[in-house]
Amino acid sequence: MSELAVATSSVNLGQGFPDTDGPAEVAQAAADAILSGRGNQYPPGPGVPPLRAAIADHQRRFYGLEVDPDREILVTAGATEAIAATLLALVEPGDEVIAFEPYYDSYAACIAMAGGVRVPVTLTAPDFRPDLDALRAAVTDRTRVILLNSPHNPTGSVFTRAELAAIAELACSRDLLVISDEVYEHMVFTGEHVPITTLPGMAERTATISSAAKTFSFTGWKIGWVTGTPQMVSAVRTVKQFLTFVSGGPFQYAIAQALALPDEYYRSIAADLLVKRDLMCDGLASAGFEVYRPDGTYFITTSIKPFGDAAASGLEFCRALPKTAGVVAIPMQVFYDHPEAGQFQVRFAFCKRKEVLNEAIARLGVLQAG
Ligand SMILES: Cc1ncc(COP(=O)(O)O)c(C=O)c1O
Repeated sequence: MSELAVATSSVNLGQGFPDTDGPAEVAQAAADAILSGRGNQYPPGPGVPPLRAAIADHQRRFYGLEVDPDREILVTAGATEAIAATLLALVEPGDEVIAFEPYYDSYAACIAMAGGVRVPVTLTAPDFRPDLDALRAAVTDRTRVILLNSPHNPTGSVFTRAELAAIAELACSRDLLVISDEVYEHMVFTGEHVPITTLPGMAERTATISSAAKTFSFTGWKIGWVTGTPQMVSAVRTVKQFLTFVSGGPFQYAIAQALALPDEYYRSIAADLLVKRDLMCDGLASAGFEVYRPDGTYFITTSIKPFGDAAASGLEFCRALPKTAGVVAIPMQVFYDHPEAGQFQVRFAFCKRKEVLNEAIARLGVLQAG
């Protein structure tokens, strides 16, 4: 879709990457690290010590968690590698992995690479809440992992403390592991972000994943991390050793600095995005879409049903959109195991400059709901 955007000079609201870089001082820190020779050679396998210390400080500062930087943290090539390595480490062939669909596309691929069996539980429009009865019913004797993602891409749903407590209770009673992808942890507009590992009984069974990509708007640097018990982290490290071994040495030093930015920086992430969310939600609604206003992340899910016959499916709609309106969006059905559940859903990313969003809204004005 990003290639299509370039080829058609469309406004690209498809892939989730910001169109402005993160803080200048963090970029400067990366340049300084390169020029002063920090991280230019293979960094330590678990990640450079200042970054692991900074991740531990972050978990304490925001969630009151105590994480041992030496035994309970592994730095990875983005959250993408953390997800892959954690699934490969924890899932045996034939194990079932429950995940809430629609899901981030790497989940299906990584569960398959681990030889696992994907068991989807559907988040349903308009509010995309987790159906806890369906989740309980999905657990079998072969279930090994619940793969969570809150705030959730692509729906923007933020699981409540009560929903997470119910998931935690289930994990404890059925002796399941939880892999919790929290890359949008600082992008919450309504409610709060609760790491499931903070809930009773969960620290010993949760691998928590996050990343610098979204929080600091440096998606190209690919610095992520996983935290968990020493046993889990050691198993994930063993896998990572043969995936990338290490990566992003100088960027690791810069992200160590970024994580220590003042509270004001972290507050500004959600505050800035909230303005853009509302701008884009209102613009999409006036262009004729049914809009599901997200509680978190930088994605908006819409329904194209109001466009009637012109919208046979999100896939066709998104294929035509660059030509009809000069805008690129993503058909949500690609994120579902049950594509019919997302047949009429289309996702827009709003992590773009306001003038870009306004241009997209103006272009989408050519669509006629009817
Ligand atoms: C839910 C989710 N997890 C993981 C990632 C990947 O993060 P990273 O860029 O750090 O690999 C993304 C990126 O879009 C995402 O949306």
